[in-house]
Amino acid sequence: MSAGQQSWHPERYARHARFVSDLGAPVLALLAPQPGERILDLGCGDGALTERLVAEGAEVVAVDASPEQVAGARARGLDARVMRGEALEFEQAFDAVFSNAALHWMKDADAVLEGVARALKPGGRFVGEFGGGNNVARLRRALIEALDRRGHDGAAADPWYFPDEAEYGAKLAAAGFTVESIELIPRWTPLPGDVEGWLETFGGAFLSHLQEEQRAEAVAEVREALRDELQDEEGRWHADYVRLRFAARLTAA
Ligand SMILES: C[S@@+](CC[C@H](N)C(=O)[O-])C[C@H]1O[C@@H](n2cnc3c(N)ncnc32)[C@H](O)[C@@H]1O
Repeated sequence: MSAGQQSWHPERYARHARFVSDLGAPVLALLAPQPGERILDLGCGDGALTERLVAEGAEVVAVDASPEQVAGARARGLDARVMRGEALEFEQAFDAVFSNAALHWMKDADAVLEGVARALKPGGRFVGEFGGGNNVARLRRALIEALDRRGHDGAAADPWYFPDEAEYGAKLAAAGFTVESIELIPRWTPLPGDVEGWLETFGGAFLSHLQEEQRAEAVAEVREALRDELQDEEGRWHADYVRLRFAARLTAA
């Protein structure tokens, strides 16, 4: 893992993050994919939700920046390609662009929106859900502090973009979209295991700044710092998620 790098592993993702795609039903319903529609799944991960779009009869292209995740999606028989969301290579190719739990990893939101607008046919829709507002505020703060304590700039290592409705709504409008709905949804989420699994799955961009031997110690320290806030009386860990869910339509030229 080199400094600042995200690290995605399909097996670890399936073990610690399957709830991410399992909780995708409402945003899929908002998209309401129709048979025969051409849909781009942006930040598809290991393709669990892409598969659901295909099952609805849509023709789906899936893209993700992680070659490992794309390999996982291809293993499901999906048309998955390695591509960064900030550099989409499509022109008026899709009826809809869909994205779950990925846009907050793409800090240059304007570049993403420009590429999404270009990828859509006139009047096409962009429907998604990602981290917004105070998403994982406690986890984020504890990770930043763990880096600061070790002489690193924790805030500079932060890989996430969590806008609120007003900020992202304005960006959508500036990119040529009419916003049909946009809302922040607090979602206190039980984790499938220990918070260490979450930190290792999602905290790579922070932890990669530390020497190998410092990482386990930092994870244990973050775990202790969060125990009172995120672990319940039965010992179950939770994440303080807040999602931003939206539906927008490319204003016809
Ligand atoms: C939490 S996963 C969500 C995957 C999937 N959509 C789901 O619901 O399970 C986030 C995904 O965003 C991808 N990602 C992060 N930065 C990206 C970028 N700049 N461009 C494209 N994909 C990116 C990661 O590789 C990862 O697979």
